[in-house]
Amino acid sequence: MSQRVLTTESGAPVADNQNSASAGIGGPLLLQDQHLLEKLARFNRERVPERVVHARGSGAYGHFEVTDDVTDFTHAEFLDTVGKRTEVFVRFSTVADSLGGADAVRDPRGFAVKFYTREGNYDLVGNNTPVFFVKDPIKFPDFIHSQKRDPFTGRQEPDNVWDFWANSPEATHQVTWLMGDRGIPASYRHMDGFGSHTYQWTNAEGEAFYVKYHFKTNQGIRCLSAEQAAEIAGQDPTSHQTDLLQAIERGVHPSWTLHVQLMPVAEAAGYRFNPFDVTKVWPHRDYPLRRVGRLVLDRNPDNVFAEVEQAAFSPNNFVPGIGPSPDKMLQGRLFAYADAQRYRLGVNHTRLAVNAPRATTAENYGRDGLMAANSQPRYAKNYEPNSYDGPVETGRPLAAPLAVSGHTGTHAAPQHTKDDDFFQAGELYRLMTEDEKKRLVANIAGGLSQVSRDDVIEKNLAHFHAADPAYGKRVEAAVRALRED
Ligand code: HEM
Repeated sequence: MSQRVLTTESGAPVADNQNSASAGIGGPLLLQDQHLLEKLARFNRERVPERVVHARGSGAYGHFEVTDDVTDFTHAEFLDTVGKRTEVFVRFSTVADSLGGADAVRDPRGFAVKFYTREGNYDLVGNNTPVFFVKDPIKFPDFIHSQKRDPFTGRQEPDNVWDFWANSPEATHQVTWLMGDRGIPASYRHMDGFGSHTYQWTNAEGEAFYVKYHFKTNQGIRCLSAEQAAEIAGQDPTSHQTDLLQAIERGVHPSWTLHVQLMPVAEAAGYRFNPFDVTKVWPHRDYPLRRVGRLVLDRNPDNVFAEVEQAAFSPNNFVPGIGPSPDKMLQGRLFAYADAQRYRLGVNHTRLAVNAPRATTAENYGRDGLMAANSQPRYAKNYEPNSYDGPVETGRPLAAPLAVSGHTGTHAAPQHTKDDDFFQAGELYRLMTEDEKKRLVANIAGGLSQVSRDDVIEKNLAHFHAADPAYGKRVEAAVRALRED
């Protein structure tokens, strides 16, 4: 095989890749050394802004296969036939730390799935937790500021973390989740995934259903104790990446079984709590799990930057048969992601291989912008309506319309009979075994006892008391013991 020649970006052969051009032997360097200038300049531009949250992550390709008929509930093309397979790309992530952070930390995990369907890409951008900390997107930037590094100390501060929770009682359910055993998954393969929000499915007759997604891991749930995590994070900060990469390279392909919960639209208004509140789960006894299919990951990306760092998921990428619910948090997210990606990656991020449709093509009149590669035939019109053969609208909405009423304004969520912020945290606590409760209480007390202000501690304790008096008492005793030490 003949040796390939090293070239500049413009394809000219490079004579010397070891020595820069200088004015005489030992003299200063020459501005005319194009290869050196280009090499240094290109290197300076290797980083793009990291994701403002979920910066650290791992991705893999695979497929989704339908195992059960759900055509009574959605006409989504990729779900319309048992046995049908659709290519997917999945990115898992941690949330709070920056790109260089460790994987084995107590933090929710992102679970973002891109289905490359024949009717466009469907992005289901969820977490490994069925609920979230806040229920209105207006609180999200403050919440994230309180969890990420403090602008003065440059560290995550227990004072900020717990102060936000002290003043956000709706976080109690998710805090109980996060501080329990599942708060530190052993790997991305050994955790479940959830859409968390309520979405909407529409069937071929135009009937609508509210839906929640649950991906159950077929590897079994495995978690780390706080001590194990600290050790692993120190030894191999990329432990989740290593695990996923190596499993797939070995041919051990992780899989998840997708289930959904379905609520007829007419039942939403009269349900005992707001079914669009992302701080709450729908009890399975009210809306049982129904199996849909199997997600399998079997191929690692060839290039982490191109395919994982530049992957762009947006909860706003729906396909016919699927749409949003009135969940306020979800509504905020419908804006936030593509906006973040236009900043982080540029307006043409949708044309990158990992983000572009694979089972169909994008056909529209969006043109140009930074880094446009013109893929249009030379006669294609860039306006619509036109009298030529340009793409035209279908007239068919993706999902059924939602009924709305009332006046505009900054309203609190609609009142249902049992809307309080604590009862599901209490139910989760009572579901735990005695050992699980012990670890939960110790984890909470370990964090809360580091808080400098008594009033912040008291407010947090009041939330655990409200969830379950026994839960509150135990956390209180554990915090007092640690503070007296
Ligand atoms: C990433 C905003 C709530 C799951 C992101 C990103 C933004 C964002 C701006 C970075 C996107 C990018 O640069 O590509 C928000 C806002 C929220 C919210 C404004 C609330 C109003 C949630 C919730 C979940 C979630 C409730 C889970 C149910 C994720 C995941 C990623 C992410 C998994 C990483 C996606 C990837 O792997 O690229 N979020 N988020 N977020 N968010 Fe959210």
